Amino acid sequence: MAETLEVAFTVNRRPVRLRVGSDRRLLDVLREDLRLTGAKEGCGKGECGACTVLVDGEAADSCLMMACQADGAVLETIEGLADGESMHPLQEAFIEEGGVQCGICIPGMVLAGKALLDREPRPDPDAIREGLAGNLCRCTGYTKIFAAVARAGGAPVRARPGPAPAAASPGSQRPRSLEAALELLSMHAGEVRPLAGGTDILVRARDGQLSRATLLDVTAVPELRGIEERAGHLWIGAGTTHTEILRSPLVARYVPALPQACAVIGGPQIRNRGTVGGNLANASPAADTAPALFAADAVVELVSVSDRREVPIDKFFTGPGRSVLAPDELILGVRVPRRDGVRGAFLRLGQRRAQAISKVSVAVAMTFRDGRPDWVRVALGAVAPTVIRAPQAEGALRAGGHEGLRLAREAVRGEVRPIDDLRSTSEYRREMAGLLLERAVRRLAEA
Ligand SMILES: Cc1cc2nc3c(=O)[nH]c(=O)nc-3n(C[C@H](O)[C@H](O)[C@H](O)COP(=O)(O)OP(=O)(O)OC[C@H]3O[C@@H](n4cnc5c(N)ncnc54)[C@H](O)[C@@H]3O)c2cc1C
Ligand code: FES
Ligand code: FES
Repeated sequence: MAETLEVAFTVNRRPVRLRVGSDRRLLDVLREDLRLTGAKEGCGKGECGACTVLVDGEAADSCLMMACQADGAVLETIEGLADGESMHPLQEAFIEEGGVQCGICIPGMVLAGKALLDREPRPDPDAIREGLAGNLCRCTGYTKIFAAVARAGGAPVRARPGPAPAAASPGSQRPRSLEAALELLSMHAGEVRPLAGGTDILVRARDGQLSRATLLDVTAVPELRGIEERAGHLWIGAGTTHTEILRSPLVARYVPALPQACAVIGGPQIRNRGTVGGNLANASPAADTAPALFAADAVVELVSVSDRREVPIDKFFTGPGRSVLAPDELILGVRVPRRDGVRGAFLRLGQRRAQAISKVSVAVAMTFRDGRPDWVRVALGAVAPTVIRAPQAEGALRAGGHEGLRLAREAVRGEVRPIDDLRSTSEYRREMAGLLLERAVRRLAEA
């Protein structure tokens, strides 16, 4: 049953402290309690970006965020953008370029554009397209919208709103230590479920598969966050977001396929909130971080009140949507052996570039000695009930040369076990697995 929780945040520089139901989303509280109606509910599932707000400077879908997750955050909505009588340069640019028709999408577009310009004041056309890839417009067309963002590029950046307010700490739903989170999970095992970025579980809640009041937010648990070089390995906390991973030089160095995978997940709003732990716990055969982690020999660290265990990633998944994770356990992080000079590539095929689930994905990792392949890993997603390794293709690639590549492509066709579904036929997936493998190896060789 929903209880009420106290939360504190600043919104458009104004401190707010209020009591909210434990089942309420940030979007509902902004619109209904604070009367900030610029954020709209379009799809309610993270697909359209009409509900975009800025959370600590990053774009987020407020339909996929619980109100308690905003505790201690600095929020910006479209209502806070103008400075007194003077509009934000982006708002002026949207008007001047004719980038507005019905206006439903525009608050989200402007805020996604602001997050981009605050980070990258003069983005090129590709960066603009990518920065707005999580926002759909059904009437203006994207050309004028992209032109508006380009026009506002280089305008003087206004000071970031801040500082962050003191958190109210709604403890029972948002523990602030690993110990507290594990205690709560153990006390209510099977009744509550961990909530991280919410980009998967809140979509399921909207579809009526579970109650939002039963979620235990783990995003304030510091032990789940971070990317660290430790003795012999790289550690990535389960609560690390896709955006944090793709910006990390350490991950690029030791798990080069992983940032390439994170870069194509959803759109910016999904990457800013979605986590690697949530991606693995979902156990989807199409989860994009999994092939890159298979190809890095990752180990998944699991923790409960009474136990800690380590599971090699190829033993973690037991079927589509199933893994060895117990209801009272959390994924603490993943550990990847550090291999100097490792090269990697991740490629996938989806219905479209952004906001699409993979039909086939391939991750390759290799080290070379005297110019010849030395250590080789090939992993594939969406072509079997779980992500899989392809040992025969790996063997063929170790032999090296064009013939090795030809044999690897042939081998991988036999190693995958794809199904026909709404998104693709099995034969197409089989063919594409070989083709993507070849392209990934070529990309890696050129790196
Ligand atoms: C529009 C859209 C596009 C998407 N595109 C992609 C895509 O291209 N590729 C892709 O792979 N995925 C995609 N996704 C799915 C989703 O964004 C990712 O799987 C994401 O990584 C999930 O992480 P999260 O932190 O949001 O998980 P949540 O939704 O918070 O949780 C997901 C599951 O993991 C569990 N969980 C979370 N953290 C832990 C933990 N530390 N320990 C134990 N269990 C935990 C939760 O209980 C829940 O069962 C997309 C989703 C949307 C809505
Ligand atoms: S309403 Fe569509 S992404 Fe939130
Ligand atoms: S202006 Fe109407 S949806 Fe974009």
